Amino acid sequence: MSIMRVKSAEQSIRDAEAPEFRLRRVLSAVDLLGIGIGAIIGTGIFVLTGVAAATDAGPGIAISFVLSGIACGLAALCYAEFASVVPVAGSAYTFSYASMGEFLAWIIGWDLILEFILGASTVSVGWSQYFVEALSSIGLALPDSLAGAPGAGGVVNLPAAVIALILTAVLVVGIRLSSAVTNVVVAIKLAVVLFFIIFGAFFINTANWSPFIPPHQPPAPGAAGSPLDEPLVNAIFGATGSFGVSGLVAGAALVFFAYIGFDIVASGAEETRRPQRDMPIGILGSLAVCSVLYVLVSLVMTGIVKYPALDTAAPMATAFQAIGAPWAVGLVSLGAIAGLTTVILILMLGQARVGFAMSRDGLLPVWFAKVHPKYRTPYRITLITGIVVALISSLTPIDVLAEMTNIGTLFAFVLVSAGVLVLRRTRPDLPRAFRVPWVPVVPVLAVLACLYLMLNLDGWTWIRFGIWMVIGLVVYFVYSMRNSRLARGESIEEAAEEL
Ligand code: ALA
Repeated sequence: MSIMRVKSAEQSIRDAEAPEFRLRRVLSAVDLLGIGIGAIIGTGIFVLTGVAAATDAGPGIAISFVLSGIACGLAALCYAEFASVVPVAGSAYTFSYASMGEFLAWIIGWDLILEFILGASTVSVGWSQYFVEALSSIGLALPDSLAGAPGAGGVVNLPAAVIALILTAVLVVGIRLSSAVTNVVVAIKLAVVLFFIIFGAFFINTANWSPFIPPHQPPAPGAAGSPLDEPLVNAIFGATGSFGVSGLVAGAALVFFAYIGFDIVASGAEETRRPQRDMPIGILGSLAVCSVLYVLVSLVMTGIVKYPALDTAAPMATAFQAIGAPWAVGLVSLGAIAGLTTVILILMLGQARVGFAMSRDGLLPVWFAKVHPKYRTPYRITLITGIVVALISSLTPIDVLAEMTNIGTLFAFVLVSAGVLVLRRTRPDLPRAFRVPWVPVVPVLAVLACLYLMLNLDGWTWIRFGIWMVIGLVVYFVYSMRNSRLARGESIEEAAEEL
């Protein structure tokens, strides 16, 4: 019994057609673009940009966005090829099963659970902050005890739990509703972002852009706490401080969070009408649109206000206040609340689809994979996901764990990019509607770029990531390895009888 056993692309596609496990194929290229943009534009651009400009890169944050965007673009090309070859729910998990075998597929699936559950919880908490603020601005104050988790000044974070549960209901009712909700909300947040760019452009003072890359500042003596608080790369090569070229790279690692989401488009493969053609459009298109917007937003933001003043939780609002347009602050809040809503929705969608694919393969209990007879959604795993996200986001001060989302995602990008190389070698015969150009250069660069960004995350993040992975290994060897359908030679029909 080999843990390196591979589940062929054909087998995965066949399983996806079994009536008991069939999802509804309704999504178009436009829907996929909506899902991508819906997942991508969120906390990253609404919150992190200002901090990254003020502390790491100055106006050069626009260059950081380009650097991070290039790393994501390389990985996105690899995702696009995979999603067009194996258009099955489960994204990186399914790809790895087809290319690198069950053990690595398990690792990546377990890693994606971390990315999606923690990501959705983190963003729910952020959503709750904006929502509570918006309520109090119209005179409806929520008591502190209901607005924060223990450890964050309250007893329970009620808004975070409520939004997670409402969105879970939307996901259960169907991919069509989820995608319709996404499209409307995406339109709102795109309008807000475009408004910021166009209106703000009139108030740019080019003097604020100089110096565009502020001079390098070595780390202040004695500033470092525990080495574990530092990016791993500093522990290896020595601390580098901020600004200058190293600040641009540190900024890129931070704003990477803003790009997360194009990869989740791939989890909708099984619900897409023409996945071979539309997956690459959805993945690459949403990334391209958001990259352009991000660079423009950061240029406008640092053009309106001198970068040190941007170290706030709502830098777009800060910029509007600076030009004497406080009414626009409400607009930015609206964009942020809308923006964060779809990020939560789509992260949970991604988690439910990966969990669904893993359960259908027997690596998690098959019971989870039951598809709702009427809505044709994997409702059990969706409900479990929603309840877990509601519990975590309402009861834990989760913000410290946001970096975990980055490490989980980057690790998935590394394996997917490597997987493209492996599958080209092991299965050159498979039809590839989309092919990564310049193989092996592009996948190799994708792997290196993502590994380098991973090194820019701090030591604690690596330790937590390691602990999560060790738990995953235990679950694999105790449960999944034995129950794997592939290992037991069990057909999809037999699995359906266990539901
Ligand atoms: N890219 C998403 C965000 O910025 C995760 O919120």
